[in-house]
Amino acid sequence: MSNPLPATPSTVENGKKIYEGKGFCRACHGADGKGLLGSDIDPGSLKGPLPRDFTDLDWQAARTDGELFWILKNGSKGTAMASFIPLVLTEEEAWQVLRYVRSFGQ
Ligand code: HEC
Repeated sequence: MSNPLPATPSTVENGKKIYEGKGFCRACHGADGKGLLGSDIDPGSLKGPLPRDFTDLDWQAARTDGELFWILKNGSKGTAMASFIPLVLTEEEAWQVLRYVRSFGQ
């Protein structure tokens, strides 16, 4: 499964709005995608592994779009990462925000 939305500036921009707005991704994953650095969240308050560094190119290469989409749908068991589709995000919004997540690797 690959992202059906092209990586155009407008898709990435829409993804950023979701990341910083209704998806509240920024609270845990950071404005720069590096995780809790600079966030208000106390690391001790999250169960399980802390949010990883989205700018890590090895991680970007290791994960397929389908895997990232699956996490947005199902959450990541044993971590603070909840399921976002369909309660918070539509599938289209999820693909947009994933374009923004991918932009941290560029
Ligand atoms: C309550 C804190 C929190 C929020 C809010 C949150 N995440 Fe996460 N997320 C985590 C944690 C913790 C993990 C598990 C550790 C990891 O894989 O980085 C995770 C994992 C992920 C992963 C999987 C990484 C992997 O390789 O397994 C993706 C993709 C992701 N988050 C994207 C998002 C997006 C997009 C949003 C907003 C729609 C979001 N997260 C909101 C805490 C959060």
